[in-house]
Amino acid sequence: MLRRQILNGMAGVGAGLALAALPGVVAPALAQETVKVGLILPMTGASASTGRQIEAAARLYMAQNGNKVAGKTIELIVKDDTGAADQTKRLATELVVNDKVAVIAGFGLTPLALAVGPVATQAKIPAVIMAAGTSMIVEKSPYYVRTSFTLPQNTTPMAEWSAKNGIKKVVTLVADYGPGLDAEKAFKAKFEADGGKVLDQLRSPLMNPEFAAFLQKAKDLKPDALFLFVPSGQGASLMKQVNERELTKAGVKIIATGDVTDDDQLNGMGDAVIGMTTSHNYSAAHDSPENKAFVAAFLKANNNMRPNFMAVGGYDGMALIYKALEKTKGDTDGTKLVDAMKGMAWVSPRGPISIDPQTRDIVQNVYIREVKKVDGQLWNVEFATIPNVKDNTHEAAK
Ligand code: PHB
Repeated sequence: MLRRQILNGMAGVGAGLALAALPGVVAPALAQETVKVGLILPMTGASASTGRQIEAAARLYMAQNGNKVAGKTIELIVKDDTGAADQTKRLATELVVNDKVAVIAGFGLTPLALAVGPVATQAKIPAVIMAAGTSMIVEKSPYYVRTSFTLPQNTTPMAEWSAKNGIKKVVTLVADYGPGLDAEKAFKAKFEADGGKVLDQLRSPLMNPEFAAFLQKAKDLKPDALFLFVPSGQGASLMKQVNERELTKAGVKIIATGDVTDDDQLNGMGDAVIGMTTSHNYSAAHDSPENKAFVAAFLKANNNMRPNFMAVGGYDGMALIYKALEKTKGDTDGTKLVDAMKGMAWVSPRGPISIDPQTRDIVQNVYIREVKKVDGQLWNVEFATIPNVKDNTHEAAK
């Protein structure tokens, strides 16, 4: 196969020269010089902001760290799946078969991440999840490794904080698919174990959601707080409707995962979200030298676009690929790369992170934050840290 491709490629050079140059030495060595990474993202459609953030972060990582690792040249190939799972799968297959990528990565939503599992398993190459957050994804292929977050990981600390801070009755409202159901379950499990009561569990459709009826129902139940989860990109429209229904005025505190107060949209949500409490793995306001440098470089390279938690998943995903290649000394064997990724630990803009060697899922700090106005802009200001949180719902973690 490789010989045939080289022959075809050299046809224009002159058959005699091509054949003479072929024997086993020069051409295969050349073919190994480049390590291709296929980044499959929703660059258009409802989740386009996720694609935009992750691509920008991956390119920033490469601009800062160069495109050479262990003697190999890294080439990034970005493909737009438009947020459609059949496209994600088709593109993953093409990247493996035609482009001979060593790694696939990206995947903007849970169904898109799930679509590439069989491709990665068959090709025996790593699939680095940079965005999706449903817990069970990593259990579906031994080649999945996650640098984003999981909803149980980010939600459990919110439930614990709520029970400790005078909240006794909660209604949950989540997007009705994998990560939303994970958030709903994790919130109820921890909050009720800590003595609280979940009055109702409401679910809004993932596509074109209309929140008004759910919000009215939540308000009528008179809970102490309403817990929210919607995926990145939907937070602004949800919060607009929350504010229109005047839940806060009615005495209902608004709590959420940080997906809702997404840094990509937060500044446009208006002062009504000030005081909202959320838990999450990343805030652009995270106070560390690594994050200050990351945010400054990201803003500069992207026309002042503020990085969100998707960006940091992409940045760290590229870091993981680079670090794994360094560890294998440039060997691109997929199983060796996944083995190298297991247990990898480093300091990210979000704080210290590592890859759990048992589950291939990310272990990271989760922060409790409050929306505040600082220097005229809205930020998720962290005020408490729960260190080294693992997703505790994986079979291997039990
Ligand atoms: C997901 O589909 O897994 C997902 C997407 C966006 C989020 C969280 C989870 O903000």
